[in-house]
Amino acid sequence: MTGTASRPLAVEGLRKGFADRDTTVMAVDDVSFELKEGELYTLLGPSGCGKTSTLRSVAGLERPDGGRVVIDGAVVADPAAGTFVPPNKRGIGMVFQSYGIWPHMTVFDNAAFPLQVARTKTSKREMAERVGSALAAVQLDRFAGRMATQLSGGQQQRLALARALVRRPKLLLLDEPLSNLDAKLRQAMRAELSALQRQLGITTLYVTHDQDEALSMSSRIAVMSAGRIVQEGAPRDIYQRPATRFVADFVGTTNFLAGTVARAGGDGTRIGTAVGELVGPGGHGANPGDEVLLAVRPEAVRLHLSEPGPAANVITGEVEQVMFVGERVDCHVRVGDDVWVTRQEAHLAAATGDRAWLELPAESLSLIPGRD
Ligand SMILES: Nc1ncnc2c1ncn2[C@@H]1O[C@H](COP(=O)(O)OP(=O)(O)OP(=O)(O)O)[C@@H](O)[C@H]1O
Ligand SMILES: [Mg+2]
Repeated sequence: MTGTASRPLAVEGLRKGFADRDTTVMAVDDVSFELKEGELYTLLGPSGCGKTSTLRSVAGLERPDGGRVVIDGAVVADPAAGTFVPPNKRGIGMVFQSYGIWPHMTVFDNAAFPLQVARTKTSKREMAERVGSALAAVQLDRFAGRMATQLSGGQQQRLALARALVRRPKLLLLDEPLSNLDAKLRQAMRAELSALQRQLGITTLYVTHDQDEALSMSSRIAVMSAGRIVQEGAPRDIYQRPATRFVADFVGTTNFLAGTVARAGGDGTRIGTAVGELVGPGGHGANPGDEVLLAVRPEAVRLHLSEPGPAANVITGEVEQVMFVGERVDCHVRVGDDVWVTRQEAHLAAATGDRAWLELPAESLSLIPGRD
């Protein structure tokens, strides 16, 4: 049994298809990942990429077609071996997008519900204690006697979380739990939820299509596309070193520039592009002649309004649009046929029509193999 404590969830080669007229849509197509004790691991991807189907397979609300789900060392789903453990025996807590608070019940009864319907009876005293501590964790203990409909949207969200926690699950599954809150509340709940998750130390599988939510809350992120995981890593890795055009495009705003490797080396890669030769980071294993895509984040671009001395990696263009976004200013710059999106300090005095020099620091460029 060594290692099981540090392996709260393992999903191995998971497959799940749905019949669609005469074909089968592979909602989950060979997905594998593992959660570490106490972490918040996020499945991030566009609508329809298979996030919910993966989560529901972990929960036992879907029967996978292939692969295995292992929770805390126990195999709970393995179609090849005929293993299927029902949801209530998997030791999980769940919150869904439509979190299903019962309006005709009090806050206490909503939170107590999973204990009331469980096959093993909970004593009144223990029920009061468990519900009390779950409600206290989400700061709703003062409202225990209220009707659920008398709670605000954010409080109802927290109640759904308390209900998921009341059986003291080892694993928490959250499917877009903040998506039906307004923007401001969503931001506040993001911080609250991630603080609570860390404080409880509860291993959490989180599903969202919101990149900001994923970047700010997760210890690790798996980016999904069309039923597969296309990149896994810490938020910073995903953001700064996207492995494919899809990831760079989906997670944040990115400028792309097509190029061909002219010379490769450990100290830098020279890349020929339509706007001149540029130097990218070295050590990518690229070879001369390889087609690559340079990806540059808006905040990585240094915009100059006069020629910046002998700096390397400078391309020139014309300011097309200047937009204030609070502390920063977004400057759109036309370079050849492309419009570059750049994010600059708010004091930059750029105006439409100005000539601009865009400095692209070599270490802030991502080199993506191929062109798509
Ligand atoms: N019960 C079902 N019957 C048929 N097809 C389904 C079913 N559930 C999901 N699908 C299909 O499987 C694919 C993946 O769906 P899933 O709900 O897992 O996506 P998702 O990533 O959660 O998307 P969203 O961000 O919109 O919630 C989609 O093409 C969807 O239409
Ligand atoms: Mg979904």
